[in-house]
Parts: sequence; C-alpha cells; structure tokens
Amino acid sequence: MKKLISNGMIVTAADTYLGDILIDNGVVVMIGTGLEAQDAEVVDASGCYVFPGGVDPHTHLDMPFGGTVTADDFETGTKAAAFGGTTTIIDFCLTTKGETLQKAVNTWHGKARGKAVIDYGFHLMVSEVTETVLTELPRIIHEEGISSLKVFMAYKNVLQADDGTLYRTLLLAKEQGALVMVHAENGDVIDFLVNEALAAGRTEPIYHALTRPPELEGEATGRAVALTGMADSQLYVVHVTCAEAVRQIEAGRAKGLQIYGETCPQYLNLDVSYLEKTNFEGAKYVWSPPLREAWNQEVLWNALRSGSLQTVGSDQCSFNFKGQKELGLGDFSKIPNGGPMIEDRLSVLYSEGVEKGRISLNQFVNIISTTSAKLFGLFPQKGTIAIGSDADIVIFDPSVRRKISAETHHMNVDYNAFEGMDIMGEPITVLVRGEFVIRDKEFVGMPGSGHYLHRKKFGATNGIATKPSSSEGVL
Ligand code: URP
Ligand code: ZN
Ligand code: ZN
Ligand code: ZN
Repeated sequence: MKKLISNGMIVTAADTYLGDILIDNGVVVMIGTGLEAQDAEVVDASGCYVFPGGVDPHTHLDMPFGGTVTADDFETGTKAAAFGGTTTIIDFCLTTKGETLQKAVNTWHGKARGKAVIDYGFHLMVSEVTETVLTELPRIIHEEGISSLKVFMAYKNVLQADDGTLYRTLLLAKEQGALVMVHAENGDVIDFLVNEALAAGRTEPIYHALTRPPELEGEATGRAVALTGMADSQLYVVHVTCAEAVRQIEAGRAKGLQIYGETCPQYLNLDVSYLEKTNFEGAKYVWSPPLREAWNQEVLWNALRSGSLQTVGSDQCSFNFKGQKELGLGDFSKIPNGGPMIEDRLSVLYSEGVEKGRISLNQFVNIISTTSAKLFGLFPQKGTIAIGSDADIVIFDPSVRRKISAETHHMNVDYNAFEGMDIMGEPITVLVRGEFVIRDKEFVGMPGSGHYLHRKKFGATNGIATKPSSSEGVL
C-alpha cells in the first residue's frame, strides 16, 4: 500500500523544508506540499523532523573477538539500530589467513540472512596479499558489491597486517575502485608497551589507555596517509579519537589526497577518566583506540563541523560486563575491546551536536547518513530523501526529553556507556523501503526482511568528487 508522510519538516544534507512524501513500492515517488492520495495510508509527521534513515558505516555484529563473541548479532543489533533511526549498516567481514575470501563472505552472509531487520552490506578485511587474494579480490569487489577493504594496523598477532599489505591493498583498491579503511594505531609499539605494563604488575583497565597513547594513533594515521599519497589511492580512517590523528588527516586533505575520517559517539562525549571507575567498571569503557583526555572532544566536533572528519560510525561491538568484559579481570589486555553504540549513535549526535549548536541540522544528516552512503557506494538509493530513493525514513520528535539507560535500550547487552545521559529527541517511526520497522516506538519489523546491499564501486556516480582516473568517469 502507498504511504503518505504528511506535514513533517523534511531534512536532507542540503535542505530543510515542510512537506509531504509519497511512497510507493518501497521508494519515494513524490515530494510536495498538500499532497493527497486516496489510496495511501497517511502518517502524520507534524511537529517532527523527517530524516533519511541513518547509515552506520561501522558495525561488528556476531563477531568473534577477544576470546568471545559480540553480545549483539544481526537480529538484536539491527533491531536496536532501527529503534535508533538507523536503516542501513555496513558490517565488517573478518577474514582468516590461508582461507579464501569467499568463504569469509559466505560466513558473514550466513550470520545476517534471516536475521537482519534493516538493510546491510559488508566491508572486507584484508590481512595478507597473496596470489589467491589478488585473484579473488577483484571478483568479490565486483560480484559481491563489496567496495571497501579494511586493514588493521593494530591488534598484533590477531588482526594486524604489515605496511606492505596496506600499501598493496591501496594499489589494488585504486585499480579496482574500492575504498581502503584503516584502524590506525601502531600495533607493534602497543604490543611492547602492553607487555611492559603487565610485567610491572599494571593490570587495571586504565592501563589499556595508557599503553595506547595518542602519539601511536597519530603516527599510524600519518603513515597510512603517506602510503595513500604514494599509491594515489583513497583512504577512510575509522574511529578517529584525537587531535594527533585529525591533524594528519587534515594535512593529507590539504595536499589534495582523498582521505576521509570517521569518529564515534564515545570519543565525542566520553573521556579517559571513565577507565578509572572502580570495581572494574572501567572495563565498560575499553575501546581501541582508547577514550582520550576531554579536550580532544572539541577538536573532534570542530573537525566534523569544518569537514575534516565526515562521518560518525557506531563501531558497535558490544560485550556484556558480566562474563565478557570480566574476562580481563587481573589483565587489562584480556578485556574484549568495544562497546554498544548502534542504538544511540543518531540521537546522541543530534542532541549533543544540533541541540548544542555544534553542527547544523543539515550537517547532522550529512554526517549520520548521506556521506556514508556516498563513500560506500549506496547513494542515492540510500542517504537522502529524493524521488527514486529507497523510502528509508525516520520520523524524529525533537521535543522529547529522555534519559539513556540499559533499562530501556534494545541492545542485547547489560550496560549502556551513556547511562543516565539526558538527551533531546527520539526516533518515533522508522521505515525501511517503505515498510514500518518501528511504529510509534514499537518494533513491528520482521527478522530477515533486511536486504543485502550490493554496493557500487568507489567514486563514480556516487556524489564523491574524485580525481580523473583511467577507468571511471569524474563528477
Ligand atoms: O574497540 C574496538 N574498537 N572494538 C571493535 C573492533 C575495532 O577495532 O573496530
Ligand atoms: Zn578498529
Ligand atoms: Zn570497529
Ligand atoms: Zn526482501
């Protein structure tokens, strides 16, 4: 049945205007004022903003990590995402050395299929560049529509790749039209510092942060930027936390390089002192890279406002405090890294960003949805409200005042890193391809209704202004 979203304040990355949206067959077919359609179900959005559904470019669902598996899988994780106004996620498909990439991709399809309630795509991790990888990757980029490759510069002896692998991945990405993503921290030096701390009996959660100083994030970010310049390729730095890394990204962009950066809600709003909470509660705030001194938050907000950083990803990677974070009792290096963020990403950015005057409403939409859709080959199907775009729509009431709490969140995890935080605004109704997934704050979706997204290659026709290349056109 057709749907008419009437009288809402429609907000895109470019415009803010009062209007109606007519949806048919899962896509937006008309936008105007005073629209009428006899055969359409009317959804009143008066007093609310109408945003394009959030696109979360960074999630880890059902992922084995740190000796355990994330608490949220594709069902609980995407449900929570939908409650939070996110209608598309791109999850990281981990690979194993010596096994085919296709096997890893099949495993990830198996995790999501029949479970996801919103649409999803995958990034693919590259940990080595062998003959098999060189033959498989172009096919996977093309046939699976996986146009982003992830290289870890940290997690030594687990996920870390060497610089040669990063460089060869950048070259391959340039040739094949993919975007290289890096976790930028110097894993070798961190490994040394962690061993040194443990040998000295420093086992508390705070040592997680003290053994991963910002210099090591800045150094790795600068190294990745330099290699991108040499390869004349394209780079997306995930979860940027500090001034040192922002400066490296800015320097690369100032040279005209195609460097993009993401930060996360935790780095914008929490600081390193949380790791000092007593009774091992600091473990709840263990992310890599770690939370930083509070002054970095303003650097990150300024970078979002000025465009030095372009996106906010959740880095959703939830572990229960009881039984999972507790694996690191007596040894901080065994605390599973990561936290629950998929649900609150959009609302916290709205409340702390727009309501507090740090970013504009249109910047908010750009950061939370549009730019990720463009960078990752989904625009204009996703990331905007326009004729022909998927009707992924969030009706958001900015007047709601509420408290974030694990008591009321929908993630499958026993704590919330923003527990007790007062925020303004709440997604009320959320549609994916024109179907209600959240209606008046109730889940009405269906596991398995989320579609796998075959993404376009980087650059061409995505709304990203790339340099001329031999294979693809320029915008
Ligand atoms: O601590 C984090 N960020 N956990 C998730 C894995 C990663 O490095 O993104
Ligand atoms: Zn990472
Ligand atoms: Zn991550
Ligand atoms: Zn379907």
